[in-house]
Amino acid sequence: MTASLTLASSLERLGTESAFAVLARAKQLEAQGQDVIHLEIGAPDFATPKHVSEAAFASVRAGETSYCPSAGIPDFRDAAANYLAETRDIPVEGRSVLAANGAKPFLFFAVLATCEPGDEVIYPDPGFPIYESAISFVGATPVPLPLREDRDFSFDPGDLADRLSERTKLVIVNSPHNPTGGVVSAADLAEAAAMLRDSSAWVLSDEVYSRMVYEGSFASITSQPGMLERTILLDGLSKTYSMTGWRCGFAAVPDALIDPLERFFVNTTSCVPPFVQRAGIAALTGPQDESQAMISEFQARRDLVVEGLNGLPGVSCRTPRGAFYAFPNVAETGIPADELATRLLDEAGVALLAGSAFGTVGADNLRVSYANSAENLTAAIERIAAFLDEQ
Ligand SMILES: Cc1ncc(COP(=O)(O)O)c(C=O)c1O
Repeated sequence: MTASLTLASSLERLGTESAFAVLARAKQLEAQGQDVIHLEIGAPDFATPKHVSEAAFASVRAGETSYCPSAGIPDFRDAAANYLAETRDIPVEGRSVLAANGAKPFLFFAVLATCEPGDEVIYPDPGFPIYESAISFVGATPVPLPLREDRDFSFDPGDLADRLSERTKLVIVNSPHNPTGGVVSAADLAEAAAMLRDSSAWVLSDEVYSRMVYEGSFASITSQPGMLERTILLDGLSKTYSMTGWRCGFAAVPDALIDPLERFFVNTTSCVPPFVQRAGIAALTGPQDESQAMISEFQARRDLVVEGLNGLPGVSCRTPRGAFYAFPNVAETGIPADELATRLLDEAGVALLAGSAFGTVGADNLRVSYANSAENLTAAIERIAAFLDEQ
């Protein structure tokens, strides 16, 4: 008789990202001959700028194909430090910046490095699912901070005050925001900073969409007095430079976290490939025109999508001020959002995500990624309109 093979019980607390599951289902339908318009995945549909790819090719040709420092090569850390300093108007030095295989590892390892059972972590609801996954996995207590549709999906500082306690170990802020496209104002961040300054909470500011702000200007909580010292300031190449497959993110981290985070990288991924970091340097320091053109295109698509969604019966959509997501409320269609998302894929060939994939607050909403061509977006709106007409 063989002993039974069991898995770790902690796996029950490890979440996932439903975008990948819906993408897999959409691909399955496509393999069966169905035509699907993809509005589920959060990846820019543009080529990586040519000069960025060329920098990687040159690096490979020069033989930079071996291990390199786990914290990142010095040139990359300096380039990322300058970029963060200039775009947030804060002092950042290369020694405080770490590179990782995308922004995601920072999310997970920052939670592992700061939290343990009994600690509380405040995070946005709706929010990027990896936050709750990491919090639950370490056994800390997830404390959702509701994002208010009537505040264009930013949090109410009063709600933050209500949730802060002496057990709060980490507060996660994400602006511009996935899944809603909401942008937190500098005034709200100042109020949050005033509360956090005297707390014992670390802050994780996920700013991977920082360049995609269409109205007003981007504000980082690290620009508030006393915040940089307690904040893991996270950004990356994936979204800004259409480099999701390259896997390169970077963060400015407080002194006490530099060594722990580096050790997580030594223990797991070893390093970001050096040629990817060379591409990153080219992206951060080279011409910005392709990235800017992509962002302008996203703004035009946003306008198209929001207008189209608001023209649908039972659908209302706030105008997102950033990122490349719309988060329409579909309560008035009379079809539960979860069911609507499934049926739109199966019956209308439009892949998008139910708001419930991001927490409890957005259960009446859908997430629409407008990282697709204007032509496909228009066709998707027509398909949804035809589907709703038939109900
Ligand atoms: C809010 C947010 N943070 C982090 C990430 C991860 O980005 P990366 O590709 O750099 O790991 C994403 C990707 O969708 C995101 O939406």
